[in-house]
Amino acid sequence: MNNFSKILIDWYSEHKRELPWRESTDPYIIWISEIILQQTRVVQGYDYFMRFINRFPDVKTLAEAEEDEVMKYWQGLGYYSRARNLHTAARSMNGAFPKTYPEVLALKGVGEYTAAAICSFAYDMPYAVVDGNVYRVLSRYLGIETPIDSTEGKKLFSVLAGEMMDKSRPAVYNQAIMDFGALQCTPQTPVCLFCPLADSCIALSKGLVMKLPVKQHK
Ligand code: ADE
Repeated sequence: MNNFSKILIDWYSEHKRELPWRESTDPYIIWISEIILQQTRVVQGYDYFMRFINRFPDVKTLAEAEEDEVMKYWQGLGYYSRARNLHTAARSMNGAFPKTYPEVLALKGVGEYTAAAICSFAYDMPYAVVDGNVYRVLSRYLGIETPIDSTEGKKLFSVLAGEMMDKSRPAVYNQAIMDFGALQCTPQTPVCLFCPLADSCIALSKGLVMKLPVKQHK
């Protein structure tokens, strides 16, 4: 394990947020939580997640439900195509959640981030998640000024995310870097004074923390 991932994982074991979907390695549970959290904050999504999982606890129950009822459980969350896609995807599974990354990625409404989250959290497969938190943590720690919304930047960060990951512990590593970005290395008020990565953070040593990550279109 490299030092970066060791420090992140140690930090996570002390500071992690206890969230119900983190207690599970059921890909269905993780899928539902990730789709809710795509456009919804944890505090708002929490109750919806609990009600949804209570009523539709597995693929089969969701596949057999009427669309109107699924939509009813989504009422108020917005971005309703998410619920329609969930229902369509559940019906495409023939009762069992897919077990490989390409099959998970092929599900309606699932992109690269969500496929990596499901395959790492549920199956501990070495797919690195790349979300806004990961862009921020990596661009600062490595001092990378390539715009994250450029074609070059997207490729670069996807490669770096894979290289920085602890491949022996993908699930905990991915959760750790996302929580680190959400709680410690935040956009506006990063806690650099008490940061366990401060000694080797390039952005901190170059005074670039508030400039990173760079976006070409704001
Ligand atoms: N946002 C997206 N995925 C998340 C997760 N697994 N835990 C907390 N917040 C998230």
